[in-house]
Amino acid sequence: MVPSRVDPDQSASASAFAIPEALALRLRVARRVAVLTGAGISAESGVPTFRDAQTGMWARFDPLELATPAAFARQPRIVWDWYAWRRELVAAAAPNPGHYALAAIERHVPDFLLITQNVDGLHQAAGSTRIVELHGNIARVKCARGCGGVDTWEDAASEPPRCPRCGAFLRPDVVWFEEMLPVDELLRAERAARDCELMLVVGTSAEVHPAAALPAMARACGATVAEVNPSATPLSDRIDYVLRGPSGIVLPALVAAAWPPAI
Ligand code: OAD
Repeated sequence: MVPSRVDPDQSASASAFAIPEALALRLRVARRVAVLTGAGISAESGVPTFRDAQTGMWARFDPLELATPAAFARQPRIVWDWYAWRRELVAAAAPNPGHYALAAIERHVPDFLLITQNVDGLHQAAGSTRIVELHGNIARVKCARGCGGVDTWEDAASEPPRCPRCGAFLRPDVVWFEEMLPVDELLRAERAARDCELMLVVGTSAEVHPAAALPAMARACGATVAEVNPSATPLSDRIDYVLRGPSGIVLPALVAAAWPPAI
């Protein structure tokens, strides 16, 4: 997969996917839009998803061995190294047309929130600013005992680096299984889900809660909900629109349909 810096407004792929007219109109007139993204939006940037059968992280690695507090307590160096590998992978990735399309939507909509489960920072790299990171950010590191974030650290060979304040191990600033989501971020996300007129659900298997509950919350409060995903998810039968394709194609087409370029 080739990382791309194509802006969706100029993207030649924008007409490659048929967008329902009513959805394009709904987006054009909406004053309050929320978007929920998952790993799928970064797949076209070369960042592996978690649950895709052949290519997903969890097809190759056991989450219980790598992404829980117990795993870190048991084998801190292995967990640290796995995240260091992913940090490098993400640092080498660039946003794709799907990320740029969401940044373009943000520029058009007065009340907008991008809620992401991703930790890769690619939305911000594409220009998104009104964003909530529900699962943290892999570029950040924090004290495992709670002293807070650390900007620089020195890697040692045998164990993770230590907190300069208390001497505990440092760990990635991401949410692990069995951990709480950051409270303020979750409250902002839930408020946006309840208040929005339209929610786009992009590139998530909708299997991990509480994020997976946000589309149903939006719909129960009267929003139109549209999914962008090449594969079916548990949401697909319970929402208003299913756009069955990769987000790097579908989202630029959606932007072009909602705000057609002037001739
Ligand atoms: P998953 O790996 O569970 O799901 C990725 C989704 O992206 C699948 O539904 C794919 O069909 C879809 N997909 C693949 N390629 C795509 C493309 N080009 N365009 C659009 N969609 C595409 O990832 P998440 O739903 O993000 O949590 O997983 C949620 C959480 O589970 C993650 O944040 C992570 C993981 O364990 C933690 O680490 C806490």
